[in-house]
Amino acid sequence: MSNLDITYISELKIGQVIPSDIYFNKTLLIKAGTKIDDALLQNLHNWGITRLSSLYTKNETPEVSKPQIKKKEKIFYSKELFDIKKLFYESLQYVVSETRYGLILNGDAQITWLENLFISSLLNSQVSIALLSLKKKDPYSYFHSFDVFLLGSLLAEMSGIRDIRSFAIGCLLHDIGKLQISNELLQKEGKLSKAEFDEIQKHPLYGVDFMEENNLSSSYRDLVKSHHERLDGTGYPEGLTESFLSEEVRLLAVVDTYSALTLQRSYRGAFSSIKAFELLLGKHHKYDKKFVINLMELVNIYPTDSIVRLSNGKKAKIKSVHENQPYFPFLEEIGTKRIYQLPLNFSVTISRFIEWDQVSDLEADDDLNKKEIYWSYFINHISAGNMEEAMNYYRLITEGMELNNIFIDVIIRMIKEIETKRVEGELSTGEEHDAFLKIKDILVETFNK
Ligand SMILES: [Fe+2]
Ligand SMILES: [Fe+2]
Repeated sequence: MSNLDITYISELKIGQVIPSDIYFNKTLLIKAGTKIDDALLQNLHNWGITRLSSLYTKNETPEVSKPQIKKKEKIFYSKELFDIKKLFYESLQYVVSETRYGLILNGDAQITWLENLFISSLLNSQVSIALLSLKKKDPYSYFHSFDVFLLGSLLAEMSGIRDIRSFAIGCLLHDIGKLQISNELLQKEGKLSKAEFDEIQKHPLYGVDFMEENNLSSSYRDLVKSHHERLDGTGYPEGLTESFLSEEVRLLAVVDTYSALTLQRSYRGAFSSIKAFELLLGKHHKYDKKFVINLMELVNIYPTDSIVRLSNGKKAKIKSVHENQPYFPFLEEIGTKRIYQLPLNFSVTISRFIEWDQVSDLEADDDLNKKEIYWSYFINHISAGNMEEAMNYYRLITEGMELNNIFIDVIIRMIKEIETKRVEGELSTGEEHDAFLKIKDILVETFNK
């Protein structure tokens, strides 16, 4: 049995921390490090679980990270093939977690498909040399690229992208231009100057140069060059708009952002998958919504307020989602108003996403819509350091609001959005820092009145 001391659910105390991942039928139930709270105890109770000994910890489960150990197989691989396979499983272990991938990689079929795609990509020695150089230079950039490869390839297949192999190599190499950027800058934790930020933003073009110098196929050149372009033209390096961006580039932009937001870096926390989806859905003028929806359906994770179709034909609204088990949300059945959690035995599942209710609320309410427009001007001016214009919009937004609400709905939201802009690469750390200083001025003005 596991290394847990606790056996009976009734012995669990609120505030205790679960020491290792707990699985039930290959499904992650509770992630290591999760603090026990009322909701978690209630969930265990709802699922009819009374003892932890009926479950097993990750170490005892034949899951994702282990299929490379096929001792009985008498196949002799070449050293090269063996090394690629080893790299695949090492990388898989590093990036995959159910909180970001849902349960898609719990089946052998997907893993084998991805493994073969990875092997066939890396048997091209130019590709493997490039990728191993990136891994050596900046492991985070490599693991992020591998993460984008896994999610991107699965999503491309689901979305009917024709040349999956080229697309997969494009995912692996999309950030290869970072080889050209100094380690000091790539791994810098503190404030980035404007010049340093500009240098980071050159990596797509450095990537294109790298491909030309190393005779890499032009079939994934656009993926390397344009993965930071956005539908509304606010991306880089060329500021291309919607009609100039291929389906492949749009799909990569969605997966790249999802990975960058949710993958842990040593010096900063990550967004939960739910937060990342809220952000992507909210920015439908930047990210192609159809691929955001496909990605949610792929990993089976939907944010609060999503309206979904269930496998029993009923429609439901997602009421709450636990960050550690986002694939078992609480739902409210539309029509009956019955609230329940998706069952552990998968007798009812979510079949597809219909819409995000927050978006339709916004569109329905004119007054709210106007405030949202003021809001986007306000944030843009703060980010650009135009205090005077920012304050004009700030006054329009906060007109008639109670101080309490200003703090929660404006100040906190502003801090979060500025942070998101930095994480997404729209602001440098330096610009983020300047924006926070401006926020401090606003706080002083608001609360000194
Ligand atoms: Fe990039
Ligand atoms: Fe990237």
